[in-house]
Amino acid sequence: MKITVVGAGAVGATTADNIIRRELAEEVVLLDIKEGVSEGKSLDMYQTAALLGFNTKPVGSTNDYEKTKGSDVVVITSGLPRKPGMTREELIGINAGIVKGVTENILKYSPKAIIIVVSNPMDTMTYLALKESGIPKKRLIGMGGALDSARFKTYLALAMDVSPLDIHGMVIGGHGDTTMIPLTRLATYNGIPVSRFLSSDQLEKVAADTMVGGATLTKLIGTSAWYAPGAATLLLVESIVRNQKRIVPCSVYLNGEYGQKDICMGVPVVLGRSGWEKIVNLRLSDAEKAAFEKSAEAVRSMNGALSL
Ligand code: NAI
Repeated sequence: MKITVVGAGAVGATTADNIIRRELAEEVVLLDIKEGVSEGKSLDMYQTAALLGFNTKPVGSTNDYEKTKGSDVVVITSGLPRKPGMTREELIGINAGIVKGVTENILKYSPKAIIIVVSNPMDTMTYLALKESGIPKKRLIGMGGALDSARFKTYLALAMDVSPLDIHGMVIGGHGDTTMIPLTRLATYNGIPVSRFLSSDQLEKVAADTMVGGATLTKLIGTSAWYAPGAATLLLVESIVRNQKRIVPCSVYLNGEYGQKDICMGVPVVLGRSGWEKIVNLRLSDAEKAAFEKSAEAVRSMNGALSL
């Protein structure tokens, strides 16, 4: 197994670090355009092998795609992150060019790779990568819902003063502050609806906090977050590499599912060795359906800004 992570910035390096610690591949290539950075970070990570005890070797590459040859899974994190006050959508101009170029280069050397897109605005970047590459839709997956769901579970756990491990919950829809849909109705604490423990006002606050979860961190840190994004990306990579068939909300190409066509948006999918294997059809309430429709409109209008 060989995995490439493009972009050795905060999210890319954290993702690569998580992957090597779990020994998900024999080799992990970390590629970046910044001279020396990916080599330096890879060496730094490899120097933890003797301390932490793992055998996966990280390899750095300054824009040399030959080193990524034969990758089974590729994670794209290259691109600008947002600064305080910015929306993910404002990144489209620069990141579209980066994601397009990176996808082309990756497929030259790894035509069969499963591609995970992390760069923002993620739903639109996933759609762009799919349209430009023409690879089978099941091999293109956008990471957003896994992170938003982790934030949702954390806010629920904090409100209830319980462990996030005992919370089940999902965020679907677009990966934007106003487009994501935390499914509070379906969230449970060990199978018991969370509405048994929290008032509707508390649940509304949890949903609102979740939606601006990224912006809250960006304001505190001064740039966008990386620990939870790197861990959320690991969840996708691990389920694919180990063929775990985990159900994870991911941005995938919809062709009529959830009432939407020709768009990439967050829905629960089963992740296994061939990519996203099937879409899980949740029975949404009328309000949730309306929210999904509204979210799709926003994602579609963002896609309209692409020159495809
Ligand atoms: P960063 O600025 O720390 O790292 C980005 C890296 O990409 C830099 O090292 C840069 O040199 C590299 N890069 C730029 N153009 C490149 C190219 N053409 N080829 C190879 N490398 C290139 O940014 P960070 O925090 O790692 O975020 C990366 C992206 O991920 C941003 O677009 C951010 O908005 C997005 N993000 C998405 C999340 C999600 O849930 N989908 C969560 C967190 C961040």
